[in-house]
Amino acid sequence: MIFGATGDLANRKLFPSLYNLYAKGQLDKFAVVGVARRSLTNEEFQLRVKESVTEHGEAAANLDEFVSKFYYHSHDVTDSSSYIALGKLAEELDENYRLDGNRIFYLAMAPEFFGTIAEHLKKDKLTNVTGFKRLVIEKPFGHDLESAKVLNKQIRTAFSEDEIYRIDHYLGKEMVQNIEVIRFANAMFEPLWNNRYISNIQVTSSETLGVEERGRYYEKSGALRDMVQNHMLQMVSLLAMEPPIKLTTDEIRSEKVRVFRALRPIIGEEVNDYFVRGQYGQGSMNEKEVPAYRQEEMVDPDSNTETFVAGKLMIDNFRWAGVPFYIRTGKRMKAKSTKIVIQFKDIPMDLYYQREQTVNPNLLVIHIQPEEGITLHLNAKKSGQGTEATPVKLNYANKGIDGLNTPEAYEKLLYDSLRGDATNFTHWDEVALSWSFVDNISAVWENTNEHSFPNYESGSMGPEAADKLLKNDGFFWWPVTEIDVDNC
Ligand code: BG6
Repeated sequence: MIFGATGDLANRKLFPSLYNLYAKGQLDKFAVVGVARRSLTNEEFQLRVKESVTEHGEAAANLDEFVSKFYYHSHDVTDSSSYIALGKLAEELDENYRLDGNRIFYLAMAPEFFGTIAEHLKKDKLTNVTGFKRLVIEKPFGHDLESAKVLNKQIRTAFSEDEIYRIDHYLGKEMVQNIEVIRFANAMFEPLWNNRYISNIQVTSSETLGVEERGRYYEKSGALRDMVQNHMLQMVSLLAMEPPIKLTTDEIRSEKVRVFRALRPIIGEEVNDYFVRGQYGQGSMNEKEVPAYRQEEMVDPDSNTETFVAGKLMIDNFRWAGVPFYIRTGKRMKAKSTKIVIQFKDIPMDLYYQREQTVNPNLLVIHIQPEEGITLHLNAKKSGQGTEATPVKLNYANKGIDGLNTPEAYEKLLYDSLRGDATNFTHWDEVALSWSFVDNISAVWENTNEHSFPNYESGSMGPEAADKLLKNDGFFWWPVTEIDVDNC
């Protein structure tokens, strides 16, 4: 059952992803009930699903057969009789499609209803099943630690922790999943993956889009809650975790949780030393003038909401003591790009410095999107006479080599939830610890107006203060555009 079946996420991501699974033969016995407020017939809903797959996916001949398994239920989230009717439909489908009493409830709608729905599912007996029951829940999981706790309590009345699949779609991205493999399947990296050999790690996720039509939500969220609490901290935890003793869900998640526990809390005035916030002003993108954040729809003309965050995270454990993890994310920046740069320390003695040559530090770049791959930056001898050093890059481009388009994150996450693999979903402990880290920062930001806002131009790489953050430590952001796989 997809709650929010007429919404944007269902339309852009969920239907096409389900279709892809179906086309690959990975969806066997199934039926989908679309649940939403407006009234639609099954036929109207099926047509919408069909259009969604045609527009956002790769439709083929079996599309009609696929959509014939879709049903629609017009729903009132606060009314028990509506749940009871939904339960009846589910029972019929269970029998007609021989679904073994298995049910997945996918909440892809306004978060204020998450708790109410979960409670009703239990109260109105939709969770009384003979097979498995699972709850897939979209972000945001709460607005801060307190509200996340309340929500968690509500959903835990109906589902146990191992039945809850909290979506962080970054965990479905091919190259985010690859971080563990790169680290733990290569003798070359793991011995160097610590504070003796790594000088700093930089995680950038920049977007070109502005806030679009999401002003109402974003005003209350800002980049810290929208991107840092979840996606950015999740990537950091995968980069920093200890090797798990086994590749099981519990072992991997518990190593990630340890990273969050080791994350140094940034409190009070320290926030200004460790974090930088930004808000986009007017600018030009692709030769088109674009408005400032404060001019966007549903945005306060004096808004204090950040659309950019840069921060320095310290992980206080034996492996990482002294190594800054810099994170940076923002809207309306120069490029749409998510990249991780691992900068290794300089070698103990530079034999080449007297020859006035620059020997660059070794870098391992993990390209998450739009291109997918890894680049290793090394130094080698310039061909010809002499022993002059020159930078070289070794590239692996995921798409190029496998000749395949990697599946959309949602396709993988849906498949995992169907199989019952929760590894790439966030455990409550991760959510709680990352909220408590982020809450300390929002406490300061919400209580002090940032007079410099807007402090970066649309189409730039963020405010100058973000560069200073690294400069103070003797580093700089490796440019995300110049280290593109494509440019190499
Ligand atoms: C979402 C945020 O979680 O991630 C959006 O709410 C953001 O504001 C999006 O645009 C970015 O995702 P991606 O996959 O495009 O990097």
